[in-house]
Amino acid sequence: MGFSDDFVWGAATSAYQIEGAAKEDEKGAHIWDVYAKEPGHIYGGHHGETACDHYHRFRGDVGIMKEIGLRAYRFSVDWSRVLPEGTGRVNEKGIAFYDALIDELLEAGIEPYMTLFHWELPYELYKRGGWMNPRIAEWFGEYAKLAAQRFSDRVSHFFTLNEPQCFVGLGFLTGEHAPGLKMPLRDTFEMAHNALRAHGRAVQMLRQYAKQPLTIGYAPTCGMCYPETEKPEDIKAARQTLFSMNPEDRNWTWNVAWWSDPVLLGHYPKEGLKRYEPYLPRITDADMKLIAEPIDVYGQNIYNGRCIRMGADGRPEEARRGEGFPKTASSWPVTPEALYWGPKFLYERYQKPMYITENGLSCHDVISLDGRVHDPNRIDFLARYLGQLKRAAGEIDIRGYFQWSLMDNFEWAKGYSERFGLVYVDYPTQKRILKDSAYWYRGVIQNNGAGL
Ligand code: BGC
Repeated sequence: MGFSDDFVWGAATSAYQIEGAAKEDEKGAHIWDVYAKEPGHIYGGHHGETACDHYHRFRGDVGIMKEIGLRAYRFSVDWSRVLPEGTGRVNEKGIAFYDALIDELLEAGIEPYMTLFHWELPYELYKRGGWMNPRIAEWFGEYAKLAAQRFSDRVSHFFTLNEPQCFVGLGFLTGEHAPGLKMPLRDTFEMAHNALRAHGRAVQMLRQYAKQPLTIGYAPTCGMCYPETEKPEDIKAARQTLFSMNPEDRNWTWNVAWWSDPVLLGHYPKEGLKRYEPYLPRITDADMKLIAEPIDVYGQNIYNGRCIRMGADGRPEEARRGEGFPKTASSWPVTPEALYWGPKFLYERYQKPMYITENGLSCHDVISLDGRVHDPNRIDFLARYLGQLKRAAGEIDIRGYFQWSLMDNFEWAKGYSERFGLVYVDYPTQKRILKDSAYWYRGVIQNNGAGL
C-alpha cells in the first residue's frame, strides 16, 4: 500500500513564469511577452520580463531544489527562446541555457522532466495564424525534433502540451489570458483540433529523434469530480459528470474527455461530437491516427474538484458547498478527495501510468518578524491532498507527483499577487526563502510519504 519505492517526488515551474530575460540572448517574442506589456491586461501592470530571474539564477535555484531533496523537476522550454521565429533559425544561446540547466540538475541528482509547451506561442507563429493554422502541427513537430536532438541525450521524460484547456479556453474564448481574444466557438474547436494534432506530431518527432528510449506524456487539466459518499450510485454519478461535456458551450474547454479521449482512446467522445457538431472542423481518420500516437504516461494537473451525488431523479447533481467551505488565497475550494478520485477515474478510463503533473495552492504568504515564511495552510493542504494520493497510489499505477510550484512566480493574469511556491521570492531583491512547507515537503520525500 502507498507510494512505490521509486515514486517520483518533484516540483514544477514553467518558462515565462520564472525565467525573465525576456529580451536577452536573442530570444524571440511570444504571445505573453507581447500581451503582458499592454496596460490593463495583467494585475498591477505586472509582466514576466524579469519574473524570478531564474535565467540568471538557475544554479542557485537548483541548489534550493537539492536542499528540499527533490528527486525530479518539471520545467518548460520557451519555444521562442530556442526557435525565435517558431521555426527555422535555431538560437544557440537559448539552447545553451537549457543545456546548462539540465547539466546542473543532473549534477544535483535531480531528474529533469521537460514540458515543451506551457503557453508561450512564438509571436511570429501567432501572426501566421497560430493554432488556427493546420501547419502548426508541423511547426510544433519541428520544435519537438530540436528538443529531442539537443536534449534527449540527458532528458528522458517529456511532456508535450500543458493544459490545452487553458491556453485555448482562457486565451481564445474568455480572453483572460494571452492573446486576450474572444473568438467564435467554431474557431476554438479548430484550434483545439490542431493543438491535438500538434501533440501527436511532437510525439512522433520526439521518438524518431530520441537519443535514448523516452517516456512521453501529455499534461492536461480540469476540475475533477468526486462522489459525496462511497455508495456505488454516487461514484457512478461523479464518474459520469467528470467525463461529460460542460453544460455551457462558452465554457466548453473545461472538460476532460474532449481533450483526453482522442489522445488515449483514438476518438472524440460521442456526446461532444453530437453536441458540438455545428462548430466542428473537418476531422479525418489520418488526424485521429496522428492524435492517438501512443504515449507512455498520462499527466494530469489537479487542483480541486466538485462533489457529486446521484440525484433522486437518477441524474448526477452537484452537492452544495456549505458556508465557510475552506478555500485557498485564489478562492479555489480545498477538496483533497480530488487527488484520490481524479487519478482513479482517469486510470480506469485510460489505463496509462499516471503522474500528477501539478497540484498546489496560493497562500497569502509573508516574511514574518523572525525572517521566516510560515505557511501552515500550505502544509495542511498538501498533507490532506497527498494523503488522498497515497490511497490512490495503493490501488493504481501512479509514478510521481509534482508540486506546483517550486517557487512563487508570475501567476499569469494575476501577476505576482498570488504566491504558489514552496519557496518565497522577494521580487525587489530576488531573495529566496524556503517556506515552512518546503522543509515539510523535504520530510515527506525523505520518508516516501510514510507519515501521510
Ligand atoms: C498552470 C500553471 C499555473 C497554475 C496555478 C495551472 O493552471 O499550469 O501555469 O500557475 O495552474 O494557476
